[in-house]
Amino acid sequence: MKPRLAILISGRGSNMKALAEACNDGRLMADIDIVLSDRDGIEGLKTAGTFGIVSQVLSYKKLGKELAEEKLIKVIKERDIDWIVLAGFMRILSPHFVNTFSDRIINIHPSLLPAFPGQNAIQKAYNYGVKLAGVTVHLVDSEVDHGPILAQSAIEIAPGTTLEELEEQIHRLEHELYWRTLNELFKKT
Ligand code: GRF
Repeated sequence: MKPRLAILISGRGSNMKALAEACNDGRLMADIDIVLSDRDGIEGLKTAGTFGIVSQVLSYKKLGKELAEEKLIKVIKERDIDWIVLAGFMRILSPHFVNTFSDRIINIHPSLLPAFPGQNAIQKAYNYGVKLAGVTVHLVDSEVDHGPILAQSAIEIAPGTTLEELEEQIHRLEHELYWRTLNELFKKT
């Protein structure tokens, strides 16, 4: 049986799209059961629709964090989800949520953690002047962008690279690293 995934998004959803493509062409042995979002009207929800993936919005704005998370937990339990895959989900998960699904939540972050956790990580690394940038996939614990590292991928920043160019390079790395790492993890578990 293929593992059942819930992918949590808040925006563009390019990582979700890359995972959906990898599932469709057999690179990633998993089923994306549902895409969940904390807000309506985002591009990622439309993209999920084009893949025929069921999606649901649990508006943190309307419901408040506690209730929205309770509803998220309910949906994830009811649908018998094996893995919760964060792909640009911009909400901090409560310790209650993390403990409910302990060691079953995975995140991708656009820096070489533990450097540059939090928002705007690519820009922060760029402004700092790092020579190596990259991407991390990790299991989620109750700290932000923190938990056992599953995989990292790094690139050298060539002199003269603009921030926009770096962002593009990092997103390309993400779209490759995420499905590969998930596949390895699912094979082992
Ligand atoms: C990605 O850079 C991801 O690493 C970070 O948020 C961004 C989401 O981008 N957590 P997208 O919505 O997948 O295009």
